[in-house]
Amino acid sequence: MTTIEETLVVHPGGTLRGTLRVPGDKSISHRAVMFGALAEGITEIRDCLLGEDVRATMGAFRALGVQIEELDGGRLLRVHGAGARGLSTPTDVLDLGNSGTSIRLLTGILAGAGIAATLTGDGSLRRRPMQRVTAPLTCMGAQIATESSGTPPLVVSAGAPLHGIEFPMQIASAQVKSAVLLAGLFAAGRTCVEEPAPTRDHTERMLRGFGVTVDVAGPRVCLDGGQRLRAASITVPADLSSAAFFIVGASIAAGSDVLLENVGVNPTRTGVLLILERMGANIERLNERDVGGEPVADLRVRGAALRGIDIPPAWVPLAIDEFPILFVAAACADGVTRVRGADELRHKESDRIATMATGLAAAGIELETFEDGIEIRGGQLQGTSVESHGDHRIAMSFAIAALRAAGSMRINGAATIATSFPTFTALARAVGLGL
Ligand code: S3P
Repeated sequence: MTTIEETLVVHPGGTLRGTLRVPGDKSISHRAVMFGALAEGITEIRDCLLGEDVRATMGAFRALGVQIEELDGGRLLRVHGAGARGLSTPTDVLDLGNSGTSIRLLTGILAGAGIAATLTGDGSLRRRPMQRVTAPLTCMGAQIATESSGTPPLVVSAGAPLHGIEFPMQIASAQVKSAVLLAGLFAAGRTCVEEPAPTRDHTERMLRGFGVTVDVAGPRVCLDGGQRLRAASITVPADLSSAAFFIVGASIAAGSDVLLENVGVNPTRTGVLLILERMGANIERLNERDVGGEPVADLRVRGAALRGIDIPPAWVPLAIDEFPILFVAAACADGVTRVRGADELRHKESDRIATMATGLAAAGIELETFEDGIEIRGGQLQGTSVESHGDHRIAMSFAIAALRAAGSMRINGAATIATSFPTFTALARAVGLGL
């Protein structure tokens, strides 16, 4: 397994050139393993991301009695589905590491399946809010205890069967939507979630691939409980959230030209492309196609002069994981970039408004933070030393920032990159980053 050094020193300057394929989409990989585990039959997953987060999901399902084979050097996973009622009670605490998607979706599944378990994770995960999932699941009849701060460990009890609910979701969160829908699969009656803004819809798309009827009407997603999942064959597209580091890197480094192959471009994820295009980026979508119900394209990105923009609040959920690297783009743009309505950034693997503001300010960039956003004035980045705060996307963002810095970037706590992108340093070096 690839490991990444705890401290990365990235030399300043350079251009990015070449063709690369980043690893599989994290959201889709988690769901493929989970749904494969709940299905009847053997699910084959190609190009699954084998980062630490998805491995946490795989480890949890193995602890729940599901056999998962890793073949062909990890390029093929074979999940021996236990069926909706076939999971066993784990004998130990389930440790989901750094992974919010694992703990939140699994809580929905376990509450639905009536499996008693304790779920926990690392220091970052144990600071993240869980009431957003435990509250609607409790309304469905689940019994789940949290710390008094609403954080993990979560203790799920094997209580009475759940019943479907009508859930008007207050936060635009795909993890919350998915946790409730997955619990709804086991519940009596119908479960409906209404989202305040579009969020990633991989759960809805993939459940259909597993033979489940999911009704989507505008912001409302509904499904009937008691439906069975049938094993499927899934090919995971490359992760746009990982590609984003190279898309921004190529955009900010004049003379760059990269081709990112086979990238997932589901419209609920492409806010990063909309934002960068409005900033003046040169991104071509080539060879657009459908792979197993998910839109995919090759992306050619060339260096361009970026300008600051006001990011429309409606685009925030569509780019929610890309703000750390978008803030680097903003720091390299001409003028001011503003985002508001993005308070969810404070609840990610780190408080991404605070951690990016601290690092960019240390690199000499003028900025102002708000509870729900940030204003960044483009300028000259200086070399500096930054902390990842246990957040993979913060570490990768500052590595890419070195392309436009006047001195080296030193990133402490970089090993966390392996949660989502274990081959980041190797790929970045191959296309020209000074690592
Ligand atoms: C994810 C949903 C998003 C995203 C996270 C992955 C998912 O979180 O930030 O990295 O796979 O459903 P929220 O549901 O909290 O918005």
